[in-house]
Amino acid sequence: MVSLDEIAAVAKKAALAAREVQLAGLKHGTEIRTKSSPQDLVTAADIESERVIAKTVAEAFPDHNLLGEEGGNQGRTSDWLWVVDPIDGTTNYARHIPYFSTSIAVYHGGEPVFGLVANPVLDETFFAVKGQGAFLNDSPIRTSTVTSFDQAVLITGFYYDRGKNIELTLDAIRNFYQHNIMGIRRLGSAALDLCYLAAGRADGFFEIGLNAWDFAGGAFIAQQAGAVVSDAFGRALSLKKSYVVAGPAALHPQMLVELEPWKAAQEASGW
Ligand code: IPD
Ligand code: CA
Ligand code: CA
Repeated sequence: MVSLDEIAAVAKKAALAAREVQLAGLKHGTEIRTKSSPQDLVTAADIESERVIAKTVAEAFPDHNLLGEEGGNQGRTSDWLWVVDPIDGTTNYARHIPYFSTSIAVYHGGEPVFGLVANPVLDETFFAVKGQGAFLNDSPIRTSTVTSFDQAVLITGFYYDRGKNIELTLDAIRNFYQHNIMGIRRLGSAALDLCYLAAGRADGFFEIGLNAWDFAGGAFIAQQAGAVVSDAFGRALSLKKSYVVAGPAALHPQMLVELEPWKAAQEASGW
C-alpha cells in the first residue's frame, strides 16, 4: 500500500521539477500560444511542466492515473488519480507577474487525500495531507475567523468566456460592495487564491466555471485548513467543471446568500 508520505515526497519532487522549467522560461523566454479563445493562453512552459510532473509520477507510481490540463495520462486501472494544473495563472506567467502556481491533488478511491500548490517565484509551497492539516512551507496554516463582510477580503476570478458568467461575477462584486466588503481582489491563479484563503490572507473565494485541475489542490488545502468549499448550492465539489464558493465556516453561508443568483445559472449550465 502506498503511504501518503510517499505521495507527498513524489508530489514535492514533481513540483520542484516544474519549478525549474518555469523559472527557466521566465529567464530565457517561452513560446506563447492561444487555446479556446484569444484570452486563453498556453506556453511551452505549461506543456513542459506537465511533462516533467507526469514523468516524475510515472517513475514512482507507473499505474497511477493523471488528469492534467495539458493532456494528462489517463486510462490506467489504479484507484489513485493525480489531478494536475502545471501552471495555474498562465496569463500572469506570460506577463512575468509573479503570482502563478503548480497545483497537484491526489485522489484515492475517489476521495482527495493530498494537495500541493506551489508558487515557484515566492518559494511558497502550500500542502495538505488527509488527517494532518494544512501547511505553508512546513508551518501549519488555518483560515481566518472573520464573521462579517466589513472585515473580509474576498478573491474572485473571471471565466474566459465573456458572456453571462462575467455578468454574474460583476453583479456579485457589486453586491458584496453593497454589503460594505473590506476588499475584493482578482489575483489570477485560482489554486493559489484558495491557498490564500487557507492561510488567512483572504477570507473568501468565488469563481464560476473552474475545472478540476484549477481547484482540486487548493480546495483540499483550504478544507484541511478549516474552510468550507462548495458549489453555488453549498454542495461538495466533484471533479467536474464547477461553480466554486469557499470561505471560513462563519462567512461561507453568508456568501452563498449573496451568490443566490448563481444557483439558477449553475443549474442551467449543467455544471
Ligand atoms: C486560470 C486561473 C485563473 C482563473 C481561470 C483559470 P489557467 O487557470 O486559475 O485565476 O480565473 O478561470 O482558468 O488557465 O491559468 O491554468
Ligand atoms: Ca488553471
Ligand atoms: Ca493551467
